[in-house]
Amino acid sequence: MRNLEGCRQTRVLGTDAAGIAEAATILARGGLVALPTETVYGLGAHALDGQAVRAIFAAKGRPADDPLIVHIADPADLTTVARPDDRAWRLAERFWPGPLTLVLPKEPIVPSEVTAGLPNVAVRVPAHAVAQALLRASELPIAAPSANLFGRPSPTRAEHVLADLDGRIDAVLDGGPTVVGVESTIVSLTDNVPRILRPGGVPAEDIEAILGQSLATASAAVAGPQAAPGMLASHYAPRTPLTLIVGDQGEARRRLLSEIETALGQGLRVGVVAVEEDLAQVPDNVVVETVGAYGDAAVLARTLFSALRALDTRQLDLLLARQIADPERGLGRALADRLQRAAERIIRVPAH
Ligand code: TXA
Ligand code: MG
Repeated sequence: MRNLEGCRQTRVLGTDAAGIAEAATILARGGLVALPTETVYGLGAHALDGQAVRAIFAAKGRPADDPLIVHIADPADLTTVARPDDRAWRLAERFWPGPLTLVLPKEPIVPSEVTAGLPNVAVRVPAHAVAQALLRASELPIAAPSANLFGRPSPTRAEHVLADLDGRIDAVLDGGPTVVGVESTIVSLTDNVPRILRPGGVPAEDIEAILGQSLATASAAVAGPQAAPGMLASHYAPRTPLTLIVGDQGEARRRLLSEIETALGQGLRVGVVAVEEDLAQVPDNVVVETVGAYGDAAVLARTLFSALRALDTRQLDLLLARQIADPERGLGRALADRLQRAAERIIRVPAH
């Protein structure tokens, strides 16, 4: 499985029974397998094997103080790894399998490598058929962060995983493009006030409706650097610097077009993450990735990370984008969050 320390031959496995069985064997032996989930591809290891979990951090270049999500096959498995309360069961009943991660007090069986020494563990039941098949075939809980190099956009295709991790992991199960495209929503239930640590695939409003209570947001001061590492500024970022324009739609579009003109005037090679409405006005001599119609959050979520990665391969000097959905509503929160973290610079235009 391993030739030299940190140097592995990465196999691309099909998602038929043979591929799943092979992936399960690799996990049981302490190896690393990237797998599709409905949100993004995860980099999986046997969650109860501390040494296997340490290899995830090495492969990603991820700091050891950034804890991992444990994936389980069935909500009934939750008590193996965590101590759920009534709120957790209500959310699990409504949203699992699906893109919701719950942070709960951990059971001692979960190694400290998974939780970065925290007394809490993040858990989710993925909805993707391949993730489910692997969880069931291996009969293991699987620790899995997104399968990208630390700080880069999350992978939504097996090719993205290979672009970052080829030679660093044992295998990737190629299940095609993921359906949701942004990561799970993370909710902490470790104290009386439920707290959203990361907006994601399940809208906050839907969670609040089940809890009958609004979610507190994680401020860095309250959550601490470890409790909400997704709050690191340079996350999900392309290597090419991205400038993001936020605020009133019409103003943001005008500013986007003027920033494009300015950059072209400076002789820069420019890439644009564009909504369909802006396409006609974007000049021909820039590289464009269209992500969908403004506010069509489900489509935008599915295409955003892929668009950022595609532009990043084009040898450009500057990427430009404007806000692509209402940042206060539904999946739009996750889109705004990811774009802001990807951006090196944010221009705020006045809202009307
Ligand atoms: O959709 C997803 O959540 C994907 C797929 C693969 O499941 N996973 C994912 O994992 O996005 P990752 O590691 O890239 O992001 C998980 C976030 C991290 O920011 C981590 O710090 C936070 O979850 N987290 C994990 N365990 C935690 C804990 N015990 N307390 C607070 N935050 C935690
Ligand atoms: Mg990640």
